[in-house]
Amino acid sequence: RKPLRLAIAGLGTVGAGVIRLLEENRALVEARAGRPITIAAVSARDRTKDRGVDLSGFAWCDDMAEMAKRDDVDVVVELVGGSDGPTLALARDTLAAGKGLVTANKAMIAHHGMELAGTAETNGAGLRFEAAVAGGIPVVKGLREGASANAIDRVYGILNGTCNYILTAMESSGADFGETLADAQRLGFAEADPAFDIDGVDAAHKLAILAALSFGAQIDFESVEIDGIRRVRAADIAQADALGYVVRLIGVADVEQSTAGPRMLQRVRPCLVAKDHPLAPIDGPTNAVVAEGNFSGRLLFQGAGAGDGPTASAVVADLIDLARGDAGAAFSVPTQQLVAMPKADSGAR
Ligand code: HSE
Repeated sequence: RKPLRLAIAGLGTVGAGVIRLLEENRALVEARAGRPITIAAVSARDRTKDRGVDLSGFAWCDDMAEMAKRDDVDVVVELVGGSDGPTLALARDTLAAGKGLVTANKAMIAHHGMELAGTAETNGAGLRFEAAVAGGIPVVKGLREGASANAIDRVYGILNGTCNYILTAMESSGADFGETLADAQRLGFAEADPAFDIDGVDAAHKLAILAALSFGAQIDFESVEIDGIRRVRAADIAQADALGYVVRLIGVADVEQSTAGPRMLQRVRPCLVAKDHPLAPIDGPTNAVVAEGNFSGRLLFQGAGAGDGPTASAVVADLIDLARGDAGAAFSVPTQQLVAMPKADSGAR
């Protein structure tokens, strides 16, 4: 059986995790994919770094742009990050060449997902991004396929593990934000530059993708209202507790009727969550997504939103789909045209 041949761009913890998973779970991956999945080429910034995996059998691409052109590559796995520049160029070229693209890049999908899906469709190429939303949780597939018989008019959740770690640590220690962030950085739960996480942008990328999948609509990242957790104080958390609530950074998207037609409201902000709500007990660097389907009822997806193992698990699930030839549409089939909520308007609500 013809193998599915990969090029992996980016060998950080996730890239190394993908190589390890393909090695360790080789037999079951091959059985489920119906054919072997092999690695033809890799690229990364630093060729000499020890990543704990054997790269000796793979061609090394000094320029990742080559990957889209190689005859020995069927699918490019993009684990580099960055929403534009060389990463976007690689994604475009890969799909335009009719090759599959599997990516963990939420920023690129939030900004350019519709364009990339169009290129994929035109060229009969598969585009998959399960790892871009909530790491190891199969929520993209869950919403696009598992819940596809439902009208969903609300999707929400805890979409950033770093923020959830910080807020739940503040809750249990009574410490303030700055101190807890410094601890989180020391323990590896927050990046040295934590802005994307704590200012809510990472959660907003995921929300915009989830909203499009849930509603059968276009991604509209620009209209997400974003507020992060920098201003949450220990006193806010104590006050919430006294009233029966916890504070969580929640991304929420709904469809509501307006005179201009159905419109999408998307916001990321610290919220009060009642202690008996299923999102309240979710602590630490975890993600959880709730979708309300009109026939399924409330669905809760929960698990690790980051990390090499969980993210590699999502990447390889996508590869198995492509290996089987299940390269259907990247998003839900569009079922509605939604009017975006102008930001200024929403402030007055
Ligand atoms: N930094 C993200 C988080 C993981 O804390 O959830 C990748 O989106």
